[in-house]
Amino acid sequence: MTAHTEQVLDQKGRPLRDLRISVTDRCNFRCTYCMPAEIFGPDYPFLPKGELLSFEELERLASLFVKAFGVEKIRLTGGEPLMRKDMPDLVEKLARIPGLRDIAMTTNGVLLPVYAEKLKKAGLKRVTISLDSLEDARFKAINGRGIPVSKVLDGIEAAKQAGLGIKINMVVQKGVNEKDILPMARYFKEKGHILRFIEFMDVGNSNEWKRNAVVTKADIIGLLNEEVPIEPVDPNYKGEVAERYRYFDGSGEVGFISSVSDAFCGTCNRARLSAKGELFTCLFASSGFDLRSLVRSGKSDQELAGAISSVWRNRTDQYSLDRALSKAAPRKKVEMSYIGG
Ligand code: GTP
Ligand code: 5AD
Ligand code: SF4
Ligand code: SF4
Repeated sequence: MTAHTEQVLDQKGRPLRDLRISVTDRCNFRCTYCMPAEIFGPDYPFLPKGELLSFEELERLASLFVKAFGVEKIRLTGGEPLMRKDMPDLVEKLARIPGLRDIAMTTNGVLLPVYAEKLKKAGLKRVTISLDSLEDARFKAINGRGIPVSKVLDGIEAAKQAGLGIKINMVVQKGVNEKDILPMARYFKEKGHILRFIEFMDVGNSNEWKRNAVVTKADIIGLLNEEVPIEPVDPNYKGEVAERYRYFDGSGEVGFISSVSDAFCGTCNRARLSAKGELFTCLFASSGFDLRSLVRSGKSDQELAGAISSVWRNRTDQYSLDRALSKAAPRKKVEMSYIGG
């Protein structure tokens, strides 16, 4: 932290550590659990370009989060972040921010053969690639656009060739892709990439989430233990979203993101910036704070920092904990594709 860094704590004593930036609300997939094609159809009102924060605005805000609040890690998301033109240029701008340790991207991977090397050169450290099945018929149905598995595997290979760190995200849904758990584990164990199993969440307003469609961390651990036993490992850092496990045979790691069966709100240190510049303090929030208006009305860095600080200080979010305690009141939630998960 620098002399100007302010440690802000929210109402539950949680610091602001990570920033997740959505650079576009568009995606070339229509995953059933995120942007179902029936709702995100040809007439869906995606944001026009002028509504998006420009790269210069993003650089300024990112730099402020680092300088004023000690944020050390930025993750670029979407929609699909690589749908935004010239992403390596943005990465290059962010990579120049002193004090920023880690820049990562969450992507569906299909554009990585075009961009992986340029992104790495620009300063991107890691990619997390989403893949829910290794079976074409199932994957095509899940991604809603008939994209074959090979397109994503090519993206993973491109990331590897470029020297980017790689993790794989698999959203597991009962009756949809449970059968893929073991084949995915075997495949990525062999490849040496960390696979993370994500419990299906009630994000947005249109994925028809039901609790009984969630395959829990405990279910998956049970299944893995029958064939490829695993044991828990200490987290890399406080507030890590995924719980780490390693294979007994020393052949690598898997992770579990169990927002439903084992909520991690207690250590949640993530701020989210939407594509049009709203600051969200929870993945399940109804609305965000309009930072773009402040930026575009010529406010100083100090004024912007003051606004961010006050939003964070007032934060009380703990949606997943409340959901577990059946205390989460029904609400209209922001769409996942809008703030990037
Ligand atoms: P690293 O730890 O940096 O590798 O990344 P990450 O796991 O934080 O990022 P990623 O984008 O891969 O997110 C993995 C999954 O966790 C996605 O399904 C996210 O929606 C989910 N997730 C990330 N942060 C939160 C959070 O604060 N709350 C909830 N409920 N889910 C989250
Ligand atoms: N539940 C859990 N994870 C989800 N993701 C998208 N929608 C959901 C959901 N409803 C995942 C994506 C991606 C990450 C950012 O969030 O698959 O890996
Ligand atoms: Fe696109 Fe990712 Fe959402 Fe799928 S989960 S629709 S790839 S943003
Ligand atoms: Fe953080 Fe909200 Fe996720 Fe809880 S539900 S971990 S408060 S983003």
